[in-house]
Amino acid sequence: MAEEKSLTYDSVSAGETIRLGRNLGCNLQAGDVVALIGELGSGKTWFAKGIGLGLGVPADTVITSPSFSLMNVYEGRYPFYHIDGYRLENLSDFLSAGLDEYLYQDGIAAVEWADRWPEILPDWHVRIEILITGDTSRRICLSGFHPRALEILDAMSLMSRNRVSFEPDR
Ligand SMILES: Nc1ncnc2c1ncn2[C@@H]1O[C@H](COP(=O)(O)OP(=O)(O)O)[C@@H](O)[C@H]1O
Ligand SMILES: [Mg+2]
Repeated sequence: MAEEKSLTYDSVSAGETIRLGRNLGCNLQAGDVVALIGELGSGKTWFAKGIGLGLGVPADTVITSPSFSLMNVYEGRYPFYHIDGYRLENLSDFLSAGLDEYLYQDGIAAVEWADRWPEILPDWHVRIEILITGDTSRRICLSGFHPRALEILDAMSLMSRNRVSFEPDR
């Protein structure tokens, strides 16, 4: 397995987080999986809105927290499965809700609270970790280790605004 790479950005507003998500969304293809990790209110859903925009989901299609439905599907360039595991405690909850099948579909899956069931994430997932650093500021770290994830991160790295680091340096 290839070595892990990570890209770190400082977002200074919710709009900026959406823009970063959109940049990721632009670089995604069918089968890609995004793991969204961070405490409540950190910006996982806002980032997911950005992914949707990057995938061509119309801007007036609301992407809200799917907490009550567990999963919302949107039509963009590919089907976009937005999964929120907030109410699911463990892996068996996730599996009995039938959510694992969306990780292996002909679409794109973004999973909030993905760190609760790391064992279910395909190797090629891109990990997004959001840290609250202030009222309107967030540190957003994107990482991966599978060749497909590295390809996505390399494409993302062309966006250098607000970037803090790209490791390892090449
Ligand atoms: N830089 C930022 N990035 C993302 N969200 C931000 C930022 N600054 C403030 N916010 C606010 O934080 C909240 C994030 O909410 P949400 O995306 O639903 O969080 P989560 O899905 O992680 O629980 C929103 O109310 C948003 O306006
Ligand atoms: Mg959310």
